Amino acid sequence: MGRAFLSDRFQLTKKTGAEQFMYLLHLIQRLHQHLAVAGAPRILFIMSKQIFEPAQLGPLTLLNRLVMAPMTRSRALGNVPNELMAEYYRQRASAGLLISEGTSPAPNGLGYARIPGLFNQEQVENWRRVTEGVHHLGGHIFVQLMHAGRVGHGLNLPADAELVAPSAIASAGQMWTDQQQMQDHPVPRALRADELATVRDEFVQSAKLALEAGFDGVELHAANGYLLEQFLHPSANQRTDEYGGSVRNRARFVLETAAAVVAAIGAERVGIRLSPWGLGAGQDMAHHAEIDETYAYLAEELQKLGLVYLHLVDHSSMGAPAVPAGTVAAVREKFTNTLILSGGYESVEQIEKALAGAADLVAIGRPFISNPDLVERLKNGVALAPYDPATFYAPGPDGFAQGYTDYPNALETPATTTLA
Ligand SMILES: Cc1cc2nc3c(=O)[nH]c(=O)nc-3n(C[C@H](O)[C@H](O)[C@H](O)COP(=O)(O)O)c2cc1C
Repeated sequence: MGRAFLSDRFQLTKKTGAEQFMYLLHLIQRLHQHLAVAGAPRILFIMSKQIFEPAQLGPLTLLNRLVMAPMTRSRALGNVPNELMAEYYRQRASAGLLISEGTSPAPNGLGYARIPGLFNQEQVENWRRVTEGVHHLGGHIFVQLMHAGRVGHGLNLPADAELVAPSAIASAGQMWTDQQQMQDHPVPRALRADELATVRDEFVQSAKLALEAGFDGVELHAANGYLLEQFLHPSANQRTDEYGGSVRNRARFVLETAAAVVAAIGAERVGIRLSPWGLGAGQDMAHHAEIDETYAYLAEELQKLGLVYLHLVDHSSMGAPAVPAGTVAAVREKFTNTLILSGGYESVEQIEKALAGAADLVAIGRPFISNPDLVERLKNGVALAPYDPATFYAPGPDGFAQGYTDYPNALETPATTTLA
């Protein structure tokens, strides 16, 4: 040990500042390992944790490797963002990257009650209040573009909109409407081949508006059973044209949309979310023989397009089947830009393990709802506050802020932040 340290000290003198720093970390880790072997109590070296180190995402330098996962919170009355939402995102701006709640690129995609859109100027102006607040605090934010497709209800849509999908197959189960509470999903209208370019263009226009609104980029929502995943999955896509049938045909709409958005705003501003082995919002997307082939193909093609990140969801913490390690490994092998893993991460140890493996960044959902200062809590080993599912998508008796912006920081100070 002593000789090793002498030679280490000698080597330090020959290195640059950055190399010396990394070398010191290495020495500390070796000492840590030595003590662990010798039976000494474990020592926590916060310094050596990747999680709190800055990370590069295309042109952006993120404050840390924690991402706030996209979460629909249904507070956007009239499908327009508001001051309460701006406050909510500001409170959580210490995440390395925030991904907004699912936001529709078109009136037809607004399937859920009170979700925001990003297709008109009023929405742009109000989203700008959100992005300015996050940037003011040193954070970064992507908007998740979510077209709900068949997962919706006419009562949740504006008057001139309609439910559309790859095929006229209803999603299983029911959904909430403010007017008539729970309702069956209606049968959507199958998009005609000549309409697909229009839907693709809605994503493109929305991505351009996202930059106008000050977002750092967009995440295409191709997970959880919404429109883009409806194209990927044979249970929702039974088209007989070049957008249905084989793995390549089913992937075509997603890849064409990704390519068009990349051409419009640049690959370094475009990420995508995928949920292999998920069952979709209606829990009716049964597993099939070509899942791994589909996602390996997508990963390869998305890498060719140069997307800045691929965000994989594993919803086993919410009762869905786990994503097999082999699927993650195959995606990781084909997609060499930033890989975000998400689902069920709650502790520094779990996150570090993911970062030591396939993940470049780790996204966290529900704990961010009840812990606006999640990064600080994890850094300081402070216990996480529990979240209340009753106010995930609906106001409490005290209004829309309840269960939304009224969770305090750990230091008992209100999480409220105002722009200077
Ligand atoms: C209230 C709520 C809303 C959600 N909304 C979205 C959404 O809009 N888009 C999306 O991709 N995932 C959505 N999700 C899934 C989360 O992004 C995340 O994958 C999930 O909560 C599992 O991660 P966790 O265990 O860290 O919470 C939502 C989850 C919750 C709890």
